[in-house]
Amino acid sequence: MSKRELGIDEKPKGIQAIRALPDKALGALWDSIIIEKSLKDQLLSQAVLNFTLRSKVPRTVVPLHGVIMLTGVPGTGKTSLARGLAHRVATAFPGGRFRLLEVEPHSLASAAHGKTQRAVTDLFASAIAEAALADPVIVLLDEVETLAADRAKLSMDANPVDVHRATDAVLVQLDALAEAHQNLLFVATSNFPQAVDSAFLSRCDLILEVPLPGREACADILKDCLTGLGRAYPAIGKLALAPELAAVAEACVGLDGRAIRKMVANALAANPDIAMNPERVTMDNILAAARAARAARVKGAGA
Ligand SMILES: Nc1ncnc2c1ncn2[C@@H]1O[C@H](COP(=O)(O)OP(=O)(O)OP(=O)(O)O)[C@@H](O)[C@H]1O
Ligand SMILES: [Mg+2]
Repeated sequence: MSKRELGIDEKPKGIQAIRALPDKALGALWDSIIIEKSLKDQLLSQAVLNFTLRSKVPRTVVPLHGVIMLTGVPGTGKTSLARGLAHRVATAFPGGRFRLLEVEPHSLASAAHGKTQRAVTDLFASAIAEAALADPVIVLLDEVETLAADRAKLSMDANPVDVHRATDAVLVQLDALAEAHQNLLFVATSNFPQAVDSAFLSRCDLILEVPLPGREACADILKDCLTGLGRAYPAIGKLALAPELAAVAEACVGLDGRAIRKMVANALAANPDIAMNPERVTMDNILAAARAARAARVKGAGA
């Protein structure tokens, strides 16, 4: 299948995907992440404000950079929320012709000195700036610690000067874009914010920590997962209403959302018979898988 048939535009170096918004698939991602409504509201409000306020209020009054950062341990839904946010912002401005650009930070890194800095500058000053000239743009900077590494923690021996310069270039470009393009929003994610340069963090308009799910959220994620499986296997869907669900949710506390969904898949692989006939899974299988996932996590954390 050609790139065009797959819905992927021709992309400049460093950009992994360009999507027209709104995009219902991204809306489904937003809905699939179960966190407190107040957090989703705060995230969406800050993103919407970016597009209402910045074109009207000078940066000498409110120095917004158009950068939102999501932090949190792996598997808590940061990337899903960032993509979903792009869809939700676009639906808040009907007819706004928003686009989502997804940056691929690893493709920018280059062993040759000076190349990364150059690639970063090209990406921000050319590709992103040009896109933002035409229509409102949301840029996903996933795993931003690769792009804006903390210069204070980089050892000159282990990390070539190139990495320092790449961070410098990101900061220079963010300042330039903030001045020139009010219809631009960066949504960055990191599960390692200690590794992100403090000058980058200082440029963020909002830093939001996406927490591990609490007991109620664990139950809701389980229900969502079982109900989703129920579309293919009706008997599994019925387990979402089982009284044992509360005990399974309790056993999941401490796991992230990704681990909870994977744990359900582990239960479906409890033995070859269930793997062949997933509708034979029981709540006991799921409870055992949840306890095993927790035990593995605790052991991993202690190691
Ligand atoms: N709070 C949650 N509610 C429901 N599903 C969740 C939640 N958190 C994570 N998931 C599920 O976990 C998977 C991983 O989510 P995602 O990739 O967005 O996490 P992430 O925080 O970006 O992880 P990483 O830091 O490893 O990149 C997705 O399938 C998502 O649906
Ligand atoms: Mg992610």
